[in-house]
Amino acid sequence: MIEEVLCAPHEVAESFGDPSAAVTLFPEEERGLAAAVPARRREFAAVRVCARAALARLGETAGPIPRGTRGAPVWPGATVGSMTHCLGYRAAVVARSADVRAVGVDAEPNLPLASERVRDLVTIHQERSWIAYLSAARPEVCWDRLVFSAKESVYKAWYPLTGLWLGFEEVRVDVDARARTFTAHVLRSGPSAGGRWPGPFRGSWTVRRGLLLTAVSVPGPAAARPLPGASRLNRPAVPARSIRPGSP
Ligand SMILES: CC(C)(COP(=O)(O)OP(=O)(O)OC[C@H]1O[C@@H](n2cnc3c(N)ncnc32)[C@H](O)[C@@H]1OP(=O)(O)O)[C@@H](O)C(=O)NCCC(=O)NCCS
Repeated sequence: MIEEVLCAPHEVAESFGDPSAAVTLFPEEERGLAAAVPARRREFAAVRVCARAALARLGETAGPIPRGTRGAPVWPGATVGSMTHCLGYRAAVVARSADVRAVGVDAEPNLPLASERVRDLVTIHQERSWIAYLSAARPEVCWDRLVFSAKESVYKAWYPLTGLWLGFEEVRVDVDARARTFTAHVLRSGPSAGGRWPGPFRGSWTVRRGLLLTAVSVPGPAAARPLPGASRLNRPAVPARSIRPGSP
């Protein structure tokens, strides 16, 4: 699934269950897990198996990926990444920070949000009109959940860039149902430290096996300045493969 939403220069790995053998964690990782219930320990370990596999493909030796400020994972060296886990699914994405400034990935069950109240907290009115339209036209996708997942992906990329909280009401998601892409506009007003908030965030999504998966990626300096002949860097951060038209 993850390869449908992200490709080079990202490295990705996913699993649809937990490893059968016990996973050895680094002491830095263990420290944040002292009070964790077994299910939390399993998802934490399983997604790190994915992350280490993806990092190995970047040429990184296995090292700790502890939780940092506000839960954001701390990636080794000059890499960025993101992880997600939900029932029956774990996935990680990593990339070199020269190629990708920030990335966010989020998996959710393809189920409607729990209530109208939750939907009203997660979405803004501009989104509610297209959600209503697409829910009637394409009921196989839970569009309110898709907006939720897209915003969580955005937050996972936003937080490492800014160190700041971002509310659900501060982002507007526009979706392309055929291309399976989305654009997330940050509606926050006021100046950022650099004079401009990150964004808009370009994203991609897929639905399969009862799951919704979204990802956003912010190109890094090398991607913005492609080298002649360096076709890997010339590729868009969100792959052409993920934006071909098609229905779920
Ligand atoms: C942090 C958050 C996005 C995680 O999403 P989730 O659906 O609950 O859980 P997921 O399994 O998909 O993701 C969990 C992983 O997210 C990552 N994560 C947690 N906090 C993070 C942060 N501040 N920045 C980046 N990544 C973070 C971690 O890798 C975590 O896994 P780990 O604890 O095993 O390392 C969510 O709990 C949250 O706080 N959301 C509110 C903020 C938000 O989304 N606002 C929307 C603004 S548009």
